[in-house]
Amino acid sequence: MNRKKVIAGNWKMNKTPSETSAFIAQLSDKVKQTNDIVICAVPSVCIPAALKTAKRSRIKIAAQNMHYEDNGAYTGEISANMLVDLGVKYVIIGHSERRQYFGETDTTVNKKVLKALKAGLKPIICVGESLEQREMGVTTDYVRYQVGYALNGVTAEDMKNIIIAYEPIWAIGTGRTASNDQANEVCNTIRKVIAEKYGRRIANATLIQYGGSVNVKNAKELFSMSDIDGGLVGGASLKIDDFDKIVNYNK
Ligand code: 13P
Repeated sequence: MNRKKVIAGNWKMNKTPSETSAFIAQLSDKVKQTNDIVICAVPSVCIPAALKTAKRSRIKIAAQNMHYEDNGAYTGEISANMLVDLGVKYVIIGHSERRQYFGETDTTVNKKVLKALKAGLKPIICVGESLEQREMGVTTDYVRYQVGYALNGVTAEDMKNIIIAYEPIWAIGTGRTASNDQANEVCNTIRKVIAEKYGRRIANATLIQYGGSVNVKNAKELFSMSDIDGGLVGGASLKIDDFDKIVNYNK
Protein backbone atom coordinates (compact mmCIF):
# COMPACT_ATOMS: atom_id res chain seq x y z
CA MET A 1 0.00 0.00 0.00
CA ASN A 2 1.52 3.26 -1.12
CA ARG A 3 0.28 5.84 1.32
CA LYS A 4 1.36 9.47 1.24
CA LYS A 5 3.33 10.79 4.19
CA VAL A 6 1.94 13.67 6.20
CA ILE A 7 4.42 15.76 8.12
CA ALA A 8 2.84 18.28 10.43
CA GLY A 9 4.37 20.81 12.76
CA ASN A 10 2.38 21.47 15.91
CA TRP A 11 3.59 24.86 17.03
CA LYS A 12 1.60 24.79 20.29
CA MET A 13 1.69 28.27 21.96
CA ASN A 14 4.65 29.59 20.02
CA LYS A 15 5.27 32.38 17.48
CA THR A 16 3.44 35.65 16.91
CA PRO A 17 1.60 36.43 13.65
CA SER A 18 4.68 38.32 12.36
CA GLU A 19 6.98 35.46 13.25
CA THR A 20 4.51 33.11 11.57
CA SER A 21 4.69 34.98 8.25
CA ALA A 22 8.48 34.99 8.34
CA PHE A 23 8.67 31.27 9.15
CA ILE A 24 6.11 30.15 6.57
CA ALA A 25 7.87 32.24 3.90
CA GLN A 26 11.14 30.46 4.66
CA LEU A 27 9.48 27.05 4.79
CA SER A 28 7.73 27.61 1.44
CA ASP A 29 11.13 27.50 -0.23
CA LYS A 30 12.10 24.28 1.53
CA VAL A 31 9.05 22.23 0.58
CA LYS A 32 9.20 22.68 -3.18
CA GLN A 33 10.80 19.28 -3.77
CA THR A 34 8.54 17.14 -1.61
CA ASN A 35 5.45 15.19 -2.61
CA ASP A 36 4.39 14.68 0.99
CA ILE A 37 1.63 16.60 2.73
CA VAL A 38 3.19 19.37 4.84
CA ILE A 39 1.08 21.04 7.49
CA CYS A 40 1.75 23.76 10.07
CA ALA A 41 -0.67 23.83 12.99
CA VAL A 42 -0.32 27.39 14.19
CA PRO A 43 -1.92 29.33 17.08
CA SER A 44 -5.41 30.49 16.07
CA VAL A 45 -4.50 34.20 15.94
CA CYS A 46 -1.67 33.33 13.53
CA ILE A 47 -3.93 31.48 11.07
CA PRO A 48 -4.70 34.47 8.79
CA ALA A 49 -0.98 35.37 8.51
CA ALA A 50 -0.08 31.72 7.92
CA LEU A 51 -2.72 31.24 5.22
CA LYS A 52 -1.74 34.42 3.45
CA THR A 53 1.96 33.52 3.35
CA ALA A 54 1.34 29.86 2.48
CA LYS A 55 -1.01 30.69 -0.37
CA ARG A 56 1.34 30.04 -3.27
CA SER A 57 3.19 27.19 -1.55
CA ARG A 58 2.22 23.58 -0.86
CA ILE A 59 2.06 24.16 2.91
CA LYS A 60 -1.33 23.50 4.48
CA ILE A 61 -2.44 25.30 7.62
CA ALA A 62 -4.12 23.62 10.57
CA ALA A 63 -5.78 24.85 13.74
CA GLN A 64 -4.76 23.26 17.03
CA ASN A 65 -8.27 22.98 18.46
CA MET A 66 -11.92 23.94 17.90
CA HIS A 67 -15.21 23.78 19.77
CA TYR A 68 -17.90 21.22 18.98
CA GLU A 69 -20.82 23.67 19.03
CA ASP A 70 -21.65 25.91 16.06
CA ASN A 71 -21.78 29.08 18.15
CA GLY A 72 -22.93 30.39 21.51
CA ALA A 73 -21.80 31.45 24.95
CA TYR A 74 -18.39 29.75 25.01
CA THR A 75 -15.98 32.57 25.82
CA GLY A 76 -12.60 32.13 24.22
CA GLU A 77 -13.62 29.30 21.91
CA ILE A 78 -13.49 28.98 18.12
CA SER A 79 -15.99 27.09 15.96
CA ALA A 80 -15.38 24.82 12.99
CA ASN A 81 -17.21 27.23 10.69
CA MET A 82 -14.95 30.10 11.73
CA LEU A 83 -11.94 28.03 10.70
CA VAL A 84 -13.57 27.00 7.43
CA ASP A 85 -14.45 30.62 6.69
CA LEU A 86 -10.77 31.54 7.06
CA GLY A 87 -9.78 28.79 4.65
CA VAL A 88 -8.36 26.27 7.13
CA LYS A 89 -8.45 22.62 6.01
CA TYR A 90 -7.07 20.66 8.99
CA VAL A 91 -7.60 20.73 12.75
CA ILE A 92 -5.79 18.88 15.53
CA ILE A 93 -8.27 17.32 17.91
CA GLY A 94 -7.63 15.77 21.32
CA HIS A 95 -3.96 16.59 21.75
CA SER A 96 -2.78 15.21 25.09
CA GLU A 97 -2.01 18.73 26.31
CA ARG A 98 -5.65 19.68 25.69
CA ARG A 99 -6.76 16.54 27.50
CA GLN A 100 -4.35 17.23 30.39
CA TYR A 101 -4.73 21.01 30.87
CA PHE A 102 -8.09 21.89 29.33
CA GLY A 103 -10.40 19.09 30.35
CA GLU A 104 -10.68 17.47 26.92
CA THR A 105 -12.25 14.02 27.23
CA ASP A 106 -12.91 11.16 24.83
CA THR A 107 -16.50 12.43 24.65
CA THR A 108 -15.54 15.99 23.65
CA VAL A 109 -12.94 14.60 21.24
CA ASN A 110 -15.62 12.54 19.52
CA LYS A 111 -18.03 15.50 19.35
CA LYS A 112 -15.31 17.67 17.84
CA VAL A 113 -14.34 15.03 15.29
CA LEU A 114 -17.96 14.73 14.10
CA LYS A 115 -18.38 18.50 13.94
CA ALA A 116 -15.10 19.01 12.10
CA LEU A 117 -16.06 16.44 9.46
CA LYS A 118 -19.50 17.96 9.06
CA ALA A 119 -17.91 21.38 8.51
CA GLY A 120 -15.52 19.98 5.91
CA LEU A 121 -12.35 20.01 8.04
CA LYS A 122 -9.90 17.13 8.20
CA PRO A 123 -9.30 16.16 11.85
CA ILE A 124 -5.89 15.04 13.05
CA ILE A 125 -6.97 12.94 16.04
CA CYS A 126 -4.36 12.50 18.76
CA VAL A 127 -4.22 9.38 20.92
CA GLY A 128 -1.56 7.88 23.14
CA GLU A 129 -0.84 6.34 26.49
CA SER A 130 0.81 7.79 29.60
CA LEU A 131 4.02 6.37 31.04
CA GLU A 132 2.01 4.72 33.81
CA GLN A 133 -0.25 3.01 31.28
CA ARG A 134 2.73 1.79 29.25
CA GLU A 135 4.38 0.39 32.36
CA MET A 136 1.13 -1.32 33.37
CA GLY A 137 1.02 -3.02 29.98
CA VAL A 138 -2.32 -1.53 28.94
CA THR A 139 -1.10 0.54 25.97
CA THR A 140 -2.84 -1.56 23.33
CA ASP A 141 -6.15 -1.70 25.20
CA TYR A 142 -6.07 2.00 26.00
CA VAL A 143 -5.21 3.21 22.48
CA ARG A 144 -7.81 0.83 21.00
CA TYR A 145 -10.39 2.38 23.31
CA GLN A 146 -9.36 5.95 22.48
CA VAL A 147 -9.47 5.36 18.74
CA GLY A 148 -12.79 3.51 18.89
CA TYR A 149 -14.31 6.28 20.99
CA ALA A 150 -13.00 9.11 18.79
CA LEU A 151 -14.37 7.44 15.65
CA ASN A 152 -17.82 6.68 17.07
CA GLY A 153 -20.32 7.82 14.42
CA VAL A 154 -17.63 8.42 11.77
CA THR A 155 -18.69 6.80 8.48
CA ALA A 156 -16.53 4.78 6.09
CA GLU A 157 -16.90 7.64 3.62
CA ASP A 158 -15.55 10.11 6.23
CA MET A 159 -12.44 8.04 6.88
CA LYS A 160 -10.57 9.46 3.90
CA ASN A 161 -10.60 12.80 5.73
CA ILE A 162 -9.25 11.44 9.02
CA ILE A 163 -5.63 11.43 10.14
CA ILE A 164 -4.67 9.71 13.39
CA ALA A 165 -1.61 10.77 15.34
CA TYR A 166 -0.18 8.30 17.82
CA GLU A 167 1.57 10.38 20.46
CA PRO A 168 2.71 8.52 23.58
CA ILE A 169 2.50 11.14 26.34
CA TRP A 170 5.83 10.08 27.84
CA ALA A 171 7.56 10.92 24.55
CA ILE A 172 6.14 14.43 24.14
CA GLY A 173 8.64 17.20 24.80
CA THR A 174 10.83 14.82 26.81
CA GLY A 175 13.46 14.00 24.23
CA ARG A 176 12.49 10.39 24.86
CA THR A 177 11.26 9.03 21.53
CA ALA A 178 9.42 5.74 21.24
CA SER A 179 11.64 3.23 19.49
CA ASN A 180 10.83 2.61 15.85
CA ASP A 181 9.30 -0.74 16.77
CA GLN A 182 7.30 0.61 19.71
CA ALA A 183 5.87 3.39 17.55
CA ASN A 184 5.16 1.10 14.62
CA GLU A 185 3.49 -1.51 16.81
CA VAL A 186 0.93 0.95 18.18
CA CYS A 187 0.33 2.50 14.75
CA ASN A 188 -0.31 -1.05 13.52
CA THR A 189 -2.77 -1.59 16.38
CA ILE A 190 -4.60 1.59 15.34
CA ARG A 191 -4.76 0.30 11.77
CA LYS A 192 -6.23 -2.96 13.06
CA VAL A 193 -8.96 -1.10 14.96
CA ILE A 194 -9.82 0.76 11.76
CA ALA A 195 -9.82 -2.53 9.79
CA GLU A 196 -12.22 -4.11 12.30
CA LYS A 197 -14.53 -1.12 12.04
CA TYR A 198 -14.29 -0.21 8.34
CA GLY A 199 -12.49 -3.06 6.57
CA ARG A 200 -8.94 -3.64 5.33
CA ARG A 201 -9.12 -1.36 2.32
CA ILE A 202 -9.99 1.72 4.37
CA ALA A 203 -7.51 0.79 7.10
CA ASN A 204 -4.72 0.47 4.55
CA ALA A 205 -5.53 3.90 3.15
CA THR A 206 -5.74 5.76 6.48
CA LEU A 207 -2.83 8.04 7.38
CA ILE A 208 -1.38 7.36 10.82
CA GLN A 209 1.37 9.62 12.16
CA TYR A 210 3.78 9.23 15.03
CA GLY A 211 4.48 12.15 17.36
CA GLY A 212 6.73 12.56 20.39
CA SER A 213 10.28 13.97 20.25
CA VAL A 214 10.56 13.54 16.48
CA ASN A 215 13.80 15.22 15.46
CA VAL A 216 16.31 15.54 12.63
CA LYS A 217 18.06 12.35 13.70
CA ASN A 218 15.14 9.96 14.12
CA ALA A 219 12.63 11.20 11.53
CA LYS A 220 13.83 9.17 8.57
CA GLU A 221 13.82 5.84 10.42
CA LEU A 222 10.46 6.48 12.05
CA PHE A 223 8.82 7.56 8.79
CA SER A 224 10.21 4.47 7.04
CA MET A 225 8.34 2.07 9.33
CA SER A 226 5.54 0.08 7.69
CA ASP A 227 2.61 1.61 9.59
CA ILE A 228 3.96 5.12 10.24
CA ASP A 229 2.85 7.64 7.63
CA GLY A 230 4.81 10.65 8.79
CA GLY A 231 4.96 12.68 11.97
CA LEU A 232 3.36 15.25 14.21
CA VAL A 233 6.34 17.31 15.27
CA GLY A 234 6.41 19.71 18.22
CA GLY A 235 9.64 21.40 19.29
CA ALA A 236 11.60 20.60 16.13
CA SER A 237 8.92 22.15 13.93
CA LEU A 238 9.70 25.61 15.35
CA LYS A 239 13.25 25.73 14.01
CA ILE A 240 13.45 26.23 10.27
CA ASP A 241 16.66 24.24 9.79
CA ASP A 242 15.33 21.28 11.74
CA PHE A 243 11.90 21.26 10.16
CA ASP A 244 13.48 21.61 6.72
CA LYS A 245 15.51 18.45 7.36
CA ILE A 246 12.50 16.59 8.78
CA VAL A 247 10.25 17.50 5.86
CA ASN A 248 13.01 16.52 3.44
CA TYR A 249 13.94 13.39 5.43
CA ASN A 250 14.32 11.28 2.31
CA LYS A 251 16.60 13.64 0.40
P1 13P B 1 7.55 17.23 20.69
O1 13P B 1 7.96 16.91 19.27
O2 13P B 1 8.07 18.54 21.17
O3 13P B 1 7.88 16.08 21.60
O4 13P B 1 5.96 17.38 20.69
C1 13P B 1 5.19 16.39 20.10
C2 13P B 1 3.79 16.85 20.02
O5 13P B 1 3.11 16.98 21.01
C3 13P B 1 3.24 17.16 18.70
O6 13P B 1 1.86 17.33 18.75
